[in-house]
Amino acid sequence: MDDQPQASRHVPIAGVIGWPIAHSRSPILHGHWLKRYGIAGHYIPVPVAPEDLAEVLRAMPRMGFVGANVTIPHKESVLALADVVTDRAALIGAANTLIFRPDGKIHADNTDGYGFIANIRQHQPDWVPDLGPAAVIGAGGAARAVVASLLESGVTELRITNRTRIRAEQIRSEFGAKVVVYDWAEAGNMLDGAMTVVNATSMGMEGKPALRIPLDALAPGTLATDLVYTPLMTPFLEEAQARGCHIVDGLGMLLHQAAPGFERWFGRRPEVDDELRRAVLA
Ligand code: ATR
Repeated sequence: MDDQPQASRHVPIAGVIGWPIAHSRSPILHGHWLKRYGIAGHYIPVPVAPEDLAEVLRAMPRMGFVGANVTIPHKESVLALADVVTDRAALIGAANTLIFRPDGKIHADNTDGYGFIANIRQHQPDWVPDLGPAAVIGAGGAARAVVASLLESGVTELRITNRTRIRAEQIRSEFGAKVVVYDWAEAGNMLDGAMTVVNATSMGMEGKPALRIPLDALAPGTLATDLVYTPLMTPFLEEAQARGCHIVDGLGMLLHQAAPGFERWFGRRPEVDDELRRAVLA
């Protein structure tokens, strides 16, 4: 360590590891904050093939990296390579934020659930998690983070449905009795009386079919949010809005999940505001 050049020790570098990584918006997001706060640091996309993950993670701290975000397909596999895994990352079964500690240990956390809740609170400050049941559509990796954060926020009944039912059953067995599984064929019924409804599938994303769940049971005043943010206004959000729901798009979750990592690596809690939104959308 001592023969490292000064620059690599003093200018912190963070990045995002994934495969492929070209489409990640994280470099724009963190780059915006670095520039805005005048911080001497770098944030770069790092393409890492699955077979190279362990070796790259060992090398990154020696190259001046203070941490990294993790995206597909490494979010699950980094858990086995980390020295310290937070409880929420273990419960979700995936990590999106790594901190390379000065003692050489790799600390893995998951801030997706935090980002999900912070996005709702920013755009719908009057939202009350325990006002009524929450309904989550989807049971993939992103849905697991949503489920964990909704339960942590105090939701008393969490309904979930998924095309592949076994994944929803798995979530119930891991997250406990507040979780109620609905069959995909009866997903519309799940919305009856729900006060919070979340699309955590990839349906509605550009180039993919729209979510085809009947939304007739959505009551006005329900909070509807989508994890998809390309497009910002998904067919699900459009219909929910037409039914009088309060809607929150998915971009803010991406922005907010990035904030804790930035603060740990670069020493300043960054703001999530319209300027950042515009920079990421540009
Ligand atoms: P992520 O980490 O983004 O959640 P994922 O783990 O691949 O990605 O999960 C994608 C989610 O979208 C799952 O709930 C998936 O349903 P399955 O578990 O049945 O695959 C859902 N999904 C994707 N395409 C779908 C489609 N055409 N119809 C229904 N659900 C779909």
